[in-house]
Amino acid sequence: MTASMPHVMNTYGRLPIALSHGQGCRVWDTEGRRYIDGLGGIAVNTLGHAHPKLVPALQEQTAKLIHCSNYYENPLQEALAKRLCELSGLSAAFFCSTGLEANEGALKIARKYGHDRGITKPEVIVFDKAFHGRSIATLSATGNPKVQEGFGPLVEGFVRVPFNDAAAVREVAECNPNVVAVFLETIQGEGGINPARWDYLREVRQICDEQGWLLMLDEVQCGIGRTGKWFAHQWADIKPDVMPLAKGLGSGVPIGAIVVGEKAKTILGPGNHGTTFGGNPLSMRAGIETLDIMLADDIMGNAARVGAHLKAALERELAGVKGVKEVRGLGLMLGIELDRPCGVILTRAMQAGLLLSVTADSVVRLVPPLILSQAEADEIVGLLVPVIKTFLAEPQP
Ligand SMILES: Cc1ncc(COP(=O)(O)O)c(C=O)c1O
Repeated sequence: MTASMPHVMNTYGRLPIALSHGQGCRVWDTEGRRYIDGLGGIAVNTLGHAHPKLVPALQEQTAKLIHCSNYYENPLQEALAKRLCELSGLSAAFFCSTGLEANEGALKIARKYGHDRGITKPEVIVFDKAFHGRSIATLSATGNPKVQEGFGPLVEGFVRVPFNDAAAVREVAECNPNVVAVFLETIQGEGGINPARWDYLREVRQICDEQGWLLMLDEVQCGIGRTGKWFAHQWADIKPDVMPLAKGLGSGVPIGAIVVGEKAKTILGPGNHGTTFGGNPLSMRAGIETLDIMLADDIMGNAARVGAHLKAALERELAGVKGVKEVRGLGLMLGIELDRPCGVILTRAMQAGLLLSVTADSVVRLVPPLILSQAEADEIVGLLVPVIKTFLAEPQP
């Protein structure tokens, strides 16, 4: 237990501050210290904090109807599903509350797809360094032994291959008749901000078509405008059959979705899947308002422009710094890979007034609200670069 939170199970490595409120891309802690938010609640607070259009809409919805169960028709679900279909070119959506739930649903779709085709032991191709969540099935699909340790036996039915290697997928196609789907993040988030190459994605799409497999793209972290397109795979000009979403879709209100194309639209039927909170009116309203505000205010264009500016500034300021391996990512999903574990940067950046995360041990990750301004991006660079340089100049233990 942490000293200040003795009644909360100790499952997170927490920093010793508590946030009390926010405004735009700024947050304040309970001691009155101000931070610039380079983390956005881990790619969740699309519209930043206390957005002047989102807050009244949520207040109005809260006063009207928060929850009502899926026993009844729900026009807000239809409205959000329709928007997601229009933006993705897909055909239908199922709503839940988190990313892992969306991925669990996707895995159920894959298995049922197999059973419907007479494959009684369906298998799904998954990837090194993948992260899909922390339920038993999604941690089994995850490619990080640390996440799995202590939770065996893992769920069977996964074949793991290296990321960005189409030949490895083809090899499985040649020898494994039980495969029904390929499941990957378009840009791996927790694994260290590793984008799939666009030609690779197109080839995997082609393999799935040849084999009759489902292509399932986890856009929980990289979706909803973060990379400068509604969904990151749109850069490769392909469509998945199944796309789990969550995080940024509700700008902070818990929401998840599985968006599916024609091939996957009717695999699940009545009684096959459900969840109490999924699609409740409050989360649906948060999703609708998030997308509407993004459209009205060109938030996605902002993510592309400010993201490119931020990346270029980081590349420029860190060029030639010994220990910086790469600045990578797209839009406002950026990673700076160092040549050594750098968890301590989390604390030092916080002390300097910047919130961010470190993932895959040695990658400093920035996934700020998509409303970040160019001046705020410059401020992040001004705070972060000295922290990284100082850290890298220290003798290694
Ligand atoms: C790509 C991806 N999928 C799934 C998840 C799990 O989402 P949640 O934490 O909402 O269960 C995450 C969370 O980081 C993620 O980045």
